[in-house]
Amino acid sequence: MRTLFVNGTVVNADGQTEADVAVVGEKISQIVPRSGGGITPGPDDLVIDATGCFVVPGGVDAHVHMELDTGTTVSSDSFASGTIAAAYGGTTTIIDFAEQRSGGNVLEAFEKRFAAAESQCVVDWGLHQILGGVDEQALIDARSLIAREGVASIKLFMAYPGRLYSDDGQILRALQMCADTGLMAMVHAENGLAIDVLVEQAIAAGNITPDFHSRTRPPELEAEAVHRAAVLSQVAGNAPLYIVHVSSSHALAEIVSARTRGVNIFGETCPQYLHLSLEDHLGQGWPNGAGFICSTPLRSKHDHHQADLWDGLRYDQLAVVSTDHCPFCMREQKLGFGESFQLVPNGIGGVEHRLDLMYQGVVAGHISLERWVEVCATAPARLFGVPRKGSIAVDMDADVVIYDPAATTVISAETHHMNMDYSAYEGMALAGAVRTVMSRGDVIVNNGQFVGRASRGRYLRREVSQHIR
Ligand code: URP
Ligand code: ZN
Ligand code: ZN
Repeated sequence: MRTLFVNGTVVNADGQTEADVAVVGEKISQIVPRSGGGITPGPDDLVIDATGCFVVPGGVDAHVHMELDTGTTVSSDSFASGTIAAAYGGTTTIIDFAEQRSGGNVLEAFEKRFAAAESQCVVDWGLHQILGGVDEQALIDARSLIAREGVASIKLFMAYPGRLYSDDGQILRALQMCADTGLMAMVHAENGLAIDVLVEQAIAAGNITPDFHSRTRPPELEAEAVHRAAVLSQVAGNAPLYIVHVSSSHALAEIVSARTRGVNIFGETCPQYLHLSLEDHLGQGWPNGAGFICSTPLRSKHDHHQADLWDGLRYDQLAVVSTDHCPFCMREQKLGFGESFQLVPNGIGGVEHRLDLMYQGVVAGHISLERWVEVCATAPARLFGVPRKGSIAVDMDADVVIYDPAATTVISAETHHMNMDYSAYEGMALAGAVRTVMSRGDVIVNNGQFVGRASRGRYLRREVSQHIR
């Protein structure tokens, strides 16, 4: 059977056309401009009318944390609930993380995480490998993961001393391995040792409200870590380097500067840094402010961070928008460990709303429609080695979203599908809505209703991206 998307505007990173799209099995089989006659439906075709809508590639969210064990609690979306929420929001690929901790075994950590996700995901999925304890064996094992398991990326932390933190020597060794293999090194860039001093001093002074989470993680300490990671990547032999969750003008400026020096560096930002702020959200005090504690933190609305990040996306200084989806429930989790900012689990949930929140940038004129598609789907697919996803083209996986620009989305915990009892975006009324979602040829969201099969998602064996060599 063929499925036809007719009468829509096909939008890819490199342009838009009035065209009809045919899907056979799991692949896109035909794209015919209507100026060339379009596709005439046959009696056996399933026809989906996309009049007035955009036909865009399914979103690729390259940074999510389902059922993440933080040490004190576990993020509240399972792989099942989180991928259903992703599907509602037009995301048909997620990449989560396997986590090796200091003294732990990389291959065992990968297998454990793989087993947890495999039986649950409703969209296609992959895993990055966190190295929380970079030692000789961890590097040998991480190097073997590309051939063994199709893992094309590792993640390192310059934050969180005593937990996931790597020192500069460990980071250099890991980056040397990445330069050698082509694996992408994702880095959480914040100077964790300096932050810990500021946190200790804030607590000693009695400054424990949620806003101190941001005040003790100043943008200078994000920028300093980005600079250091970029230098280490260059010294390592130009390792592919991807800075996660860029939140500030300061960090962005370091990425721009490193790119002009020829560093193989890419930046990611997230919707929370483009829409939420220290004053309006984190600064609400207890209890609501706790819902906005994430790292890197929300920044001051008075310092041009948001305008600079939008510009960074517009001018390709930032390559990707991911959610860093890390959901917690308010009462039991965000407020469950005591009223002091450093006790609150870090993270904001948003896997369901990335396409909608980023579409507001199109409406406001910050980015083009094509760039919206590129940062939400095409670029993450390319950078993380999933070449069959991220665009509407013949022989690509049939991951297709019908996006209705005339509809409206109102975000609320009452109606969202993430396993969270609050929303960081509560009450926001957004232009545009996801109407229909196809994942590898299956319609999984039909006119706003999830109709997918449990655990239908497929593990993505990835390859080293040609884009970064
Ligand atoms: O606050 C956040 N982002 N929590 C998730 C873990 C991380 O640092 O990415
Ligand atoms: Zn992080
Ligand atoms: Zn994260």
